[in-house]
Amino acid sequence: MCSILGYIGSGPAAPLIVEGLKRMEYRGYDSAGVATLFMDKILVKKGIGRVFEVNNEVSLDSLPGDVGIGHTRWATHGGVTSANAHPHLSSSNGIAIVHNGIIDNYQDLKRELLALGYTFKSETDSEVIANLLQRNYDVTRDFKKSMIATLSQLKGKFAFIAISKDGGLAAARFQEPLMIGIGKQSYFVSSDILGFVGNTDEAIYLENGEFAMFNSDGISISDFEGNPTKHVVTKISKEFADADKSDYVHYTLKEIYEQPTTILRAGGMTEQELDWLAALIIRSKNVYITGSGTSFNSALIGKYLFSKYARVKIEPIVSSETQFSPVYFDSNSVLIALSQSGESADVLETANIAKESGAEIVSIVNVMTSSLAHMSSISVGLNCGPEIGVAATKSFTSQMAIMYKLTEKLCGVTDARDLNLVSSQISKLLLNHSNIQKIAKELKTVSDIYVLGNGIHQYVAMEASLKLKELSYIHAEAFPGGELKHGPLALLDSNAYVVVINPNDSTYTSMLAATHEVKARGAKVIGISNIPSEIYDYWIPLPAIDEAFYPLIEIVPLQLLAYYSAIERKANPDYPRNLAKSVTVK
Ligand code: F6R
Repeated sequence: MCSILGYIGSGPAAPLIVEGLKRMEYRGYDSAGVATLFMDKILVKKGIGRVFEVNNEVSLDSLPGDVGIGHTRWATHGGVTSANAHPHLSSSNGIAIVHNGIIDNYQDLKRELLALGYTFKSETDSEVIANLLQRNYDVTRDFKKSMIATLSQLKGKFAFIAISKDGGLAAARFQEPLMIGIGKQSYFVSSDILGFVGNTDEAIYLENGEFAMFNSDGISISDFEGNPTKHVVTKISKEFADADKSDYVHYTLKEIYEQPTTILRAGGMTEQELDWLAALIIRSKNVYITGSGTSFNSALIGKYLFSKYARVKIEPIVSSETQFSPVYFDSNSVLIALSQSGESADVLETANIAKESGAEIVSIVNVMTSSLAHMSSISVGLNCGPEIGVAATKSFTSQMAIMYKLTEKLCGVTDARDLNLVSSQISKLLLNHSNIQKIAKELKTVSDIYVLGNGIHQYVAMEASLKLKELSYIHAEAFPGGELKHGPLALLDSNAYVVVINPNDSTYTSMLAATHEVKARGAKVIGISNIPSEIYDYWIPLPAIDEAFYPLIEIVPLQLLAYYSAIERKANPDYPRNLAKSVTVK
């Protein structure tokens, strides 16, 4: 959830770290800080807010020194305060660390360290790493040995980077992402490639249970016992260089507008891979599909498509609920795990439980170097490029596009319908943004929105209401149209707005009936349909398309509606409050 970044080289570390942190802010953005090593001293600056705000206030990038670490935070342990912001110094100021993850046994360790005279300034679990490293350094007088001792004592999930006053930089990874960028006479170590993209295109991906020591002569990578491990240097895909906003005001807007292209790139599997995947699903006795948030909404759409068109029975599981669910994975099971980041802790946990029970894991991910991709039998890439906006947009339609391709394969269709028409219809919809902007203005002071859909559209409604919540902070709820009369109608009055997803397919007539029920209670109706109707106070026209594909196009105006509502309400759509993009904690 947090981002961490370290640098060692022959030039000033702080400006490079600040730039890298800005690119990684999607991982957490409630506070930021930098520490550098200068003249045998560790200098720290930090504060609350986005990186540019903290930098404006305390000039993080002016810290001198060729070695440094930085952090952007998404609070887990301890509130959003300057004291809780990273980097954290050991009590003797000899070591500073930045950490992503959670140290489960921090309270026990803290008690022991307090008893030994080490002191603490924050409420975080992370600070314990700084003092534990310091304690082990005070005993061993060797930074590498102190890393090995510390790593044997920490329990939980972590990636951290440390600098020691006596020179050097160290970094360790356990179930949180960490990678090394190899520059000219310099090294970066980061939660994400975005930390160093533009400075180097060569990277080493650390494995779980490894740590790296850096000094001016180079790096050494070892397992947690200190045994050297081998690595290959990977060329970073060019698309990561694409991580800027170009002419768009926000990443979220750019990513919404990329969808006509990204749905066409989704999947990128060879026919043999698709055949293998379809055969695996067909021969498995139990097929499960999982994800969190938006990815779970895609999973529901996948379930619908597989069941309706390919007659494959498939059970959806909300990833965060697996541990409480009566799910019996076995060697006759396959789990399809959907995740943009491939790092969501809930999804990884589900995949781990399934794998341990002998199930095959098929992942559909955007980040092909992620932990989820790593642990899967086969991984299908969304190929939609970096998604920086915290709310998922293009990854959702890319996940759906893959579901459509897979469904066709499962149905035995050899001449798959291509998505080119869908893509051009999305482009047309995007041209109509001024209509949606006008509707967003109407929503400026609205407190409740209900989104209705029947059949497969109820899952699009769920995704639309998630986008409205996240981006505009409007209370939004989704219902199947037929459920209104079973309770939610009680909520409707002339203050409520109701979005009805009503394309011209088998759901049309019953959704129109539900719309009449809404209208009779005085609520305002926003209709998304290819058939105009007087019953809609606002109409978002949908282009006509093969009815199976409506979900792929109807979500797009709703993403735009959420985006423009955020703008109207002066919320930053790229960085919704309290959220982070990659939820790597439970
Ligand atoms: C919604 C959103 C989140 C993510 C969820 C899963 O806009 O971004 O709900 O969909 O945290 O993330 P991934 O797909 O990375 O596992």
